Amino acid sequence: MTTSTSRGCFITLEGGEGAGKSTSMDFIRRHLEAAGRTVCVTREPGGTALGEAVRGLLLDTRFDGMSADAELLLMFAARAEHLARVIRPALARGEWVLCDRFTDATYAYQGGGRGIDEARIRVLEDWVQQGLEPDLTLLFDLPVEQGLARAGERSEPDRFEREQEAFFERVRQAYLRRAAAAPGRFRIIDAGRDYREVQKQLAGELDALTRRCG
Ligand code: TMP
Repeated sequence: MTTSTSRGCFITLEGGEGAGKSTSMDFIRRHLEAAGRTVCVTREPGGTALGEAVRGLLLDTRFDGMSADAELLLMFAARAEHLARVIRPALARGEWVLCDRFTDATYAYQGGGRGIDEARIRVLEDWVQQGLEPDLTLLFDLPVEQGLARAGERSEPDRFEREQEAFFERVRQAYLRRAAAAPGRFRIIDAGRDYREVQKQLAGELDALTRRCG
């Protein structure tokens, strides 16, 4: 999407399980704030009262075996609310929106992971976003086995985390395909490196975006 000086920038963080998005979120927020930006930190699914309730349903292991279409539609229902109540208003106020996952996750998980046809996802994307796209997407990439080992050290697995390794391999490949198809918007962050190296790359990407976004 085109950016103007009156609108903030929209940054999304993507990646498989255990790739370190959450750890980087705080660094990115502090880096942008130090550059004088007002930052709105949010996440998907979630970010609103309704979205967080929908997130609860989506991650709940009681709904194992939920139909892929129901899962897809719930993701976009939460996203519609998030865009209307949080993302568009914040951008209009000139804030920078930092969102932990967005529609690329739908292409990766529901498209790559569950096998839903991309064309059907695109219909919902067009409907809900009406042309709004992130200005920058940081894809935290890590071999699946390493990511799952890291994620496994945390709490009880949710409905997605209980998936098999083959599911996450499809998710990873779908993310990498999307990054290759939109190199202007995506930056791949090799999350297997020393964290100081990751931070250095993040700082460089954010500074470049600051110059682009004004
Ligand atoms: P999180 O682990 O980053 O908090 O995200 C919650 C889960 O939701 C994660 O396993 C990925 C999944 N997800 C999708 O399947 N599709 C989507 O569109 C989004 C935003 C998340």
